[in-house]
Amino acid sequence: MTQTAAAPPRHVAIIMDGNGRWAEARGQSRSEGHLAGAEPVRVILKAAHRLGVRFLTLYAFSTENWARSTQEVDNLFSLLTRYLDSETAELLASGVRLRGMGNLERLPPQARLALTQAEEMTAHNEDLTLSLALSYGSRAELTQAARELAQKAASGQLDPQTIDESSLAQAMWSRHLPEVDLLIRTGGDKRVSNFLLWQLAYAELYFTDTLWPDFGEADFLAAIADFQGRQRRFGRV
Ligand code: FPP
Repeated sequence: MTQTAAAPPRHVAIIMDGNGRWAEARGQSRSEGHLAGAEPVRVILKAAHRLGVRFLTLYAFSTENWARSTQEVDNLFSLLTRYLDSETAELLASGVRLRGMGNLERLPPQARLALTQAEEMTAHNEDLTLSLALSYGSRAELTQAARELAQKAASGQLDPQTIDESSLAQAMWSRHLPEVDLLIRTGGDKRVSNFLLWQLAYAELYFTDTLWPDFGEADFLAAIADFQGRQRRFGRV
């Protein structure tokens, strides 16, 4: 069976790359690049919502990003905290549910608090789920899911013979997400960088050289149109 992807993707995931290069090209600090990167988040969220996308998942901070300078990490989390503080009312009013996913215990307390508050406030919204991958790495996610299942099996709560794809998916940080339909990566690199490895199994991949701060609504619509023109076979002929 061949399926033409004429409908908009249900789940779009984005690797928002290129903030640093965008800033360096302007003689600015990397943190100024991240600040500029907050605007496309607002624009793309609105456009996705309007198109009927149900899940938008953004790679905002990877496990590997902890290795960046303390100043850049601090600035990123204070930017995230400000984004959540200033946008939550709008998310709530527009039907968007916000969720964090990753090793959230590592987040600075203020960012953790802002995230929890935004999650709680928007918990009843159903139009679109905006997931922020924070302190996220796909291998870490799979490892902790395996550990959780192993602990349940060891304590007798779970029969190992019953473990299937669904029970593994349910033990993951991203348990609330369906499979990804479309992955977009900005910034020119063509790789998936430890993002949603399990959930990308049949995703369509879209790469663009545009740096994330320059990625606007027209660029997003182009990615969606490209997706809609593809034939998805899911391993069948
Ligand atoms: C990658 O660019 C981007 C990040 C590590 C952070 C993403 C953060 C934002 C877009 C800020 C706003 C986010 C929210 C949710 C408000 P890079 O620094 O690796 O760029 P480079 O490859 O050019 O160095």
